[in-house]
This record gives sequence, C-alpha cells and structure tokens, in this order.
Amino acid sequence: MAYSRYSILFFLAILISASNAQNGLILPIRKDAKTSQFYTTVELGSNRAAITPIIDLGAQFSWFQCDNYVSSTYSPIPCRTRKCDIVGGIGCISCDGPLRPGCSNDTCPASAFNPFQDVLVSEFFGEDTLYAKNQQPVPEYIFSCMQSRFMEGLASGANGLVGLARTEISLHKQVANKFNLPNRFSVCLPSSGLGKLSIGGPSSSTISTISKSLKATPLIVNPVSTAPAYAVGDPSDEYFIDVKSIRVDGETLSVKNSYFSIDKDGVGGTKISTIQNFTALHNSIYKPLARAFTKAAADMKIKSVAAVEPFRACFSSDSISRTPAGPSVPTIDLVLPGNDLYWRIHGANSMVEVNQRTTCLAFVDGGSNPRTSVVIGAHQLEENFLEFDLVSSQLKFSSSLLVQNQSCSRL
Ligand SMILES: *[C@@H]1O[C@H](CO)[C@@H](O)[C@H](O)[C@H]1NC(C)=O
Ligand SMILES: *[C@@H]1O[C@H](CO)[C@@H](O)[C@H](O)[C@H]1NC(C)=O
Ligand SMILES: *[C@@H]1O[C@H](CO)[C@@H](O)[C@H](O)[C@H]1NC(C)=O
Repeated sequence: MAYSRYSILFFLAILISASNAQNGLILPIRKDAKTSQFYTTVELGSNRAAITPIIDLGAQFSWFQCDNYVSSTYSPIPCRTRKCDIVGGIGCISCDGPLRPGCSNDTCPASAFNPFQDVLVSEFFGEDTLYAKNQQPVPEYIFSCMQSRFMEGLASGANGLVGLARTEISLHKQVANKFNLPNRFSVCLPSSGLGKLSIGGPSSSTISTISKSLKATPLIVNPVSTAPAYAVGDPSDEYFIDVKSIRVDGETLSVKNSYFSIDKDGVGGTKISTIQNFTALHNSIYKPLARAFTKAAADMKIKSVAAVEPFRACFSSDSISRTPAGPSVPTIDLVLPGNDLYWRIHGANSMVEVNQRTTCLAFVDGGSNPRTSVVIGAHQLEENFLEFDLVSSQLKFSSSLLVQNQSCSRL
C-alpha cells in the first residue's frame, strides 16, 4: 500500500508543478519617481544576487551588472555552438582577467546596449538560474553581464535591463520555451503602486474585470531592424502597430499618410517603447497635433500659458477640471485599421503636470527626420493594460483603466 501512496504523492507533485507552470511568471513593476523609468526585481544565480532591471520592450536580451555577482551555477555560452547561433552571437570573445561571469575565453559575444547612455558594449553571453519571488525558478536563463561604468542613465539603484523584444532570448520567449507556454506577455505600467509583468499566463480574455474593454490590433513587422547593431536583412524586433491617423476630439489631423506607414528602408510607422518617457512625434505630426489640441482646449475654456521645455503646449492647471482619468481635456485617438477602432488617450496619459500651476500636453517633437514617426512612450502607457500575443501577432489594449475605476495595481 505504501507503494501506491507514494505514487499518488508523486502524481500530485507532477500535477502541482504542472499547474504552477501553467501560470507562467508574474513580476512586479514599479515606477522610479525621479526618472519615470519602470523596473522589476529578480534574483540571479546560486547566491541569489538581487537584480533591479529596467523594463525595455525594445531590448533584444537582458543584461545585468555582474560586478558583485558570484554564482556556482553560472556558465558562459561557448562560441561556435548551436546555442550561440540561436542567441545571435557572431564569432568568439575572450578575456584576460580571472575567470568570472562576464570574463571567459572562447565565449559567445553579446552586444549589450544601454539606451540611456547610448552605448553598445562588447560583452559575454552566459546563463544562470533566474528567480522570481515565490515562483518556479527559470533555469539556464540567457543574459549578458554589463560593466558598472555602463550603468549611466539608469534609475538610481537599477542594475540591468530586461529585454522584451521579439527575439529568441527575450525574457518571455525563454520562459515560454522552458515551461511550454504560449509566447505572450502583458505589461501594466503603474502611475503609482505596483504594476505587473505577466508572462505566459492565461489569456487576457479571462481577466473578467477588463476583458470587455480590450481591443485588438495586429502587431506589424518593420522589415528593417531598428536595433543599434544588426545584420543586413534583419527585420526589426520592436513592436509596431499600424496607426492610420490621429484625431483630436474626433477631428482627424491633416497629416500625410506616408508618415504613418513604414517605407522599404524601415523609416516611418509607430512603435511602442517603455524607455522613452513621452511619446515623440515626427515634427509634421507634432505641429498639427499641438495646434489642434490647443484650439480644442480653448473651446473648453482651458487657458494657454507659456510653454515649459520640452513641451510646447501648456495650460493653466486652474482652468482644467478633473475626471477619474485625469485632467478633462480634448481626447486624442490613435486610429487603427478596422471598423471604428482606435486607442483613446485620456487626460491622465495625454497631460503632465510640470509644476503646481502648469499642465502640459505630454508629447514631444521628434524632429523632422526621425527613424520612426511615432514612438509611443511610457507616460502614454501608464495604467493601460497591454498584452503582446506573439502567437497571433496581436496587441490587446485597454485604454486607461482609470476610466473603468480600475488600475494596474488592482488588476
Ligand atoms: C525623460 O527622459 C529624459 C531622457 O532620459 C530625462 O532626462 C528626463 O528627466 C525624463 N523626464 C521625466 C519628466 O521623467
Ligand atoms: C584566456 O586565455 C588567455 C591565453 O591563453 C589567458 O592568458 C587568459 O588568462 C584566459 N582567460 C581566462 C578568463 O581564463
Ligand atoms: C472604485 O473602486 C474602489 C475600490 O475597488 C471602490 O471602493 C469605489 O467605490 C469604486 N468607485 C466607483 C465610483 O465605482
């Protein structure tokens, strides 16, 4: 009888681990008040080194500062191996110093990019166990180290970057592969409190509180890489959506269609970024937006005041009334393909209070020659639920949760 009891226990253990795996991975997201960067917390390696990486939707892989990281479970990824091919390493990299994470011979090279410092650093791919609080560990998680002098621009206390682009070694792809889950993840950037990065979990359509408000639009592929280093012919692994036009209070801005589409050189289009704090628009979109917004605001008896850099349309806070979804201002819609489909940007996302008396339109001028015409930034994503489903190549989005008396921290 003992035998069958053990087999039942064994069976239960399998069931429990399987149901854990079904849940994927859930990581907390916090906002750094000073820089408005969004970060999470994980632990790495046998000594559970604490890592506080910035969330980067556009980064191809994760990198962490390894200076004080010692681990018996770390191993470098050797060059000239199939794994090195999969991670996109070309050639071999070696190192003089004593052997440690981030210094080994005949290793698969990584080009680690710090977008805040705008530097590309030659580093070493390695793997180790990644731990998220109270959840199943992720074994053999592939990342690279980054020397401490290349941490400039990161929020104080942050020591890495989590890569969520559409690559083989993004966090979500590695977790999906290891736990046999669909390749999808959701992010909800909080304006305060705790947001959530959820990987491989149940589809957003099962989140009853918000499922009715979700809309979907295809994620499209820019045929030319937007990464800091790439090979000829590589497509972009960032997330683009097909914004067709922009409306202010229901009126379409007069903008040439060609700015919204992506040309054969990969120029134009709309992408989503968690690294850029405010949405940046091609000058030929920014100008008509600021003009139309200021006019529609004046119609609502909102008073214009002197602009505060980097913004160009600012208003007296006293002249703006409040709603649960932020200042009551003209709505901005990103119009998407389909029947009356749009992503509405409410006051909480379109405006920023630059001081006690002044509230500005929280969009910036991207100049007259940007690579991407519309880069939707983090301020516009706050308190919006976003699911990136890479199985169906769709973005599901909620618009501001505040409109429904919801928030990222309450989901
Ligand atoms: C926005 O980002 C820039 C560049 O990273 C930074 O200098 C600036 O402080 C940020 N602004 C706010 C309001 O967070
Ligand atoms: C790499 O090889 C060189 C030459 O053999 C050697 O001097 C160096 O110590 C090695 N580095 C490591 C980290 O083992
Ligand atoms: C909004 O949600 C909070 C917390 O769930 C609740 O206490 C409050 O009554 C709700 N307000 C409205 C207007 O539904």
